Amino acid sequence: MKAFQLQDDWSIDHLRLVERPDPTPGPGQVLIRLSAASLNYRDLFVLRRGYGAATGTLPLVPVSDGVGEVVALGAGVERLAIGDRVCPMFFPDWIGGEPRLARMARILGGPVDGTMAGLMAIGAESVARVPPHLSDVEAATLPCAALTAWRALVTEGRVKAGDTVLVQGTGGVSLFALQFAKALGARVIATSSSDAKLERARTLGADAGINYRTTPEWGKAAREIAGGDGVDHVVEVGGEQTLTQSLRAVRVGGTLSLIGVLSGGKMDVRLGPVVTRAVRMQGVTVGCRDDFEAMVRAVEQHRLQPIVDRVFAFEDLRAALDHLASGTQFGKVCIRHAA
Ligand SMILES: NC(=O)c1ccc[n+]([C@@H]2O[C@H](COP(=O)([O-])OP(=O)(O)OC[C@H]3O[C@@H](n4cnc5c(N)ncnc54)[C@H](OP(=O)(O)O)[C@@H]3O)[C@@H](O)[C@H]2O)c1
Repeated sequence: MKAFQLQDDWSIDHLRLVERPDPTPGPGQVLIRLSAASLNYRDLFVLRRGYGAATGTLPLVPVSDGVGEVVALGAGVERLAIGDRVCPMFFPDWIGGEPRLARMARILGGPVDGTMAGLMAIGAESVARVPPHLSDVEAATLPCAALTAWRALVTEGRVKAGDTVLVQGTGGVSLFALQFAKALGARVIATSSSDAKLERARTLGADAGINYRTTPEWGKAAREIAGGDGVDHVVEVGGEQTLTQSLRAVRVGGTLSLIGVLSGGKMDVRLGPVVTRAVRMQGVTVGCRDDFEAMVRAVEQHRLQPIVDRVFAFEDLRAALDHLASGTQFGKVCIRHAA
């Protein structure tokens, strides 16, 4: 099979398209013919060895997210059938329950091989069926960005109808959060560096938009839009340069879902108001298969369509990663594997 692998050194310049032997499914495994993948910021970070030893050893097949068809079953597999369209889970060992180190140690795309290959043999428990109304490319967007937004708002956040949710920027996680929040009946305030992107967010249902470049005090603006009390839930993907404004935006007793650190991961922050205003700060890291299956039911029920920015050919992985790094995208950057 064809596969991209990172070899010799941790750098995007060491990605190579190679021939690898076809895998065969062992007992309890399925063989998936992968048809599409989608990129996440983490994939770039792994290629640069940003997570250190946690991303394993070389050679490594990169990229966590993908979708494919089950083409062979290992001995003893009963929960899936040949022809099922499935996503392999970001955390293959986190099926359900609370986050635990052992459940989260193995991640596709580093330390274990990811989705930039023609075939993948993986435990049958570590995959889940995808919504029938989605194309392969759309379904490939679900394992990381969508599941993170789902876990933040639903599993951890318990957002309910009438709540106000603030989503930062118009990247993959934030647009899924926007769509899920609207499906839950919440009001959504979106921020972006671009007025044009805010307009597009409005067409997806955002009730209000704030340009965080032209309105640096966007936390105060969001609080006013929310009615003075503040927003119920902030989907925090910015980190260093956004947390102070997020703390301004959130209401007493509200929740900050700490998901990303796009603008840096270190900062001085006034912790007093977090305590006295009873703000809940919840770290979120993707989710488990049970979360994924619950999310798939909601995506089907609401006929949600993931927002795909651009689709690249399998061979053009490098160009796709460069596009992701540019930050110009609106939604997900995807890859279509050869037919
Ligand atoms: N914890 C987890 O499980 C998990 C899962 C997935 C992702 N993440 C993390 O979450 C973050 C977002 O991931 P993603 O996949 O959604 O990324 P993405 O698709 O690459 O999103 C990039 C967008 O984020 C916005 N942005 C960048 N800097 C910003 C800032 N300072 N303030 C507000 N918005 C900003 C920009 O939107 P505009 O162009 O509209 O301004 C940019 O287009 C990353 O740090 C990623 O590593 C964490």
